[in-house]
Amino acid sequence: MSKLKLSGVSKAYGATLALRRGDLEVMAGEVHVLMGSNGSGKSTLCKIIAGSVRPDAGRILIDDTPATITGPRSARAQGIGIFYQELSLAAHRSVEENICLAALPVRAGLFVDRVSLKERAARYIALFDGVSGEGFAADALVGNLRPDQRQLVEIMKALASEAPLLIFDEPTSALDRAQVERFFEILGNLKRRGRGIIFISHRMDEIKAIGDRVTIIRDGETITTLNLDETDAATVIRLMVGGAGDMPASQSSVPAAVDIAAESALTVRNLSGAGFRDVSFEVGRGEILGFGGLHGQGQSALLRAIFGAGAITSGEIRIGSERFDASSPRDAIRRGLAYVSGDRSRDGVISGRPIIENVSPIHYLRDRLMIASPSRLRDRVLPALQSMHTKFASLFDPISALSGGNQQKVIIARWLIDRPDVLLLDDPTKGIDLSAKADLFTLIRQLAAEGLGILLYSSEDAELLGNANRILVFNGGSVSRELTGAERTRYNLYQAAYEAA
Ligand SMILES: Nc1ncnc2c1ncn2[C@@H]1O[C@H](COP(=O)(O)OP(=O)(O)O)[C@@H](O)[C@H]1O
Ligand SMILES: [Mg+2]
Repeated sequence: MSKLKLSGVSKAYGATLALRRGDLEVMAGEVHVLMGSNGSGKSTLCKIIAGSVRPDAGRILIDDTPATITGPRSARAQGIGIFYQELSLAAHRSVEENICLAALPVRAGLFVDRVSLKERAARYIALFDGVSGEGFAADALVGNLRPDQRQLVEIMKALASEAPLLIFDEPTSALDRAQVERFFEILGNLKRRGRGIIFISHRMDEIKAIGDRVTIIRDGETITTLNLDETDAATVIRLMVGGAGDMPASQSSVPAAVDIAAESALTVRNLSGAGFRDVSFEVGRGEILGFGGLHGQGQSALLRAIFGAGAITSGEIRIGSERFDASSPRDAIRRGLAYVSGDRSRDGVISGRPIIENVSPIHYLRDRLMIASPSRLRDRVLPALQSMHTKFASLFDPISALSGGNQQKVIIARWLIDRPDVLLLDDPTKGIDLSAKADLFTLIRQLAAEGLGILLYSSEDAELLGNANRILVFNGGSVSRELTGAERTRYNLYQAAYEAA
């Protein structure tokens, strides 16, 4: 029996066509895996089913009946529950409140019925008894939990919907083995009871263990659906990569690094810390060193730690030939490091303040003696902004008036007033439009050509293949493979990231 059928579903975010043609059919009693590279449109497809994104076109059938999903409430009412990849939890609320948030038991109007809330939540918390870890409790605040524990709460929240169709968008990325095993037992039970389950993971072993069929999505398009016991990992990877997957990243598009051996910009030796372990590499002046692999394999944690914003337990960092002990971002900035994150709301934008104040803080930090007059600052800011075709009316406009892409250009310009030596880019193009991406990469390559050493983590493989001179593939916090020269193919990148996982 068909639980859900999507045909020709599409969605564009501005200039980004996230989903061109999504087709998917999920049967009652099956775990249906979605596979596709980073940015291929999997989460967009899930959000359309869950009502948090409205499709531009396409048809949806639920239980063989045409359906219109107008929003998350409407999806819930039609029997759909979802685990969101980016989680949907309230940090200031307890575990039990989060689990039952969508359907808070209400008695006498607005007052939360604490007794029935506790009883309901306890059922889902008990499912993970023994594997949820220290500090996990019904009344613990979600904001105080570890990443794996938050993921468990999001799983419990999805399960508590008791929906006939459940979507899990990368639910296991932070879980340990025991937690995954428990979760799979639960999924197996749900499946036997006739639920339809959509499951996204990049881990081949997990997919083989839990999945019945797999639908492969490439560049926003459904390629095919296969029975998992009639296929193998290599076939699935080939289908995800597509025909041109063996072609090396075009050599002409990636500029040759300046003589790397001659001058090192940054050296990392046997560095371990929170989220990464025993990482060694050297990035030369003029080089763009890419960090690839699945999301959350230590790339961001490492970049933040190098910038002095994360714990390091052993190993060493050198800037040029001098040792650097990464104790604070302030030190890092004084030593010529710059850090730009794609998470602008957390790490970048000073919201509500004018553009000029958003470009100046680093300058004050680096150059404390000089009291910069607004006109001097403007003389240094404008060229940086103009070089990236930043669209704004006045430096005194609030930064929130700009699009995401233009905000990111302002954030990058803030670092260019005083030239850094090393630029740490932590998924810098997340959520920005195509033309802004192109402008940013033109600038990044120009900065490399001028002698900066650049570390680039991107969750979009095409950005790495098109810009990095070398790519380190991360897996479980360590570097599992280095791809140089003609080895930098989509196929090798996928294989290193997915199969080893
Ligand atoms: N809210 C958004 N605004 C702009 N672009 C987005 C947004 N969400 C996703 N995208 C873009 O849509 C494409 C598909 O993203 P997504 O569905 O998250 O892929 P996946 O889950 O397969 O990694 C990507 O290019 C991504 O950058
Ligand atoms: Mg996704």
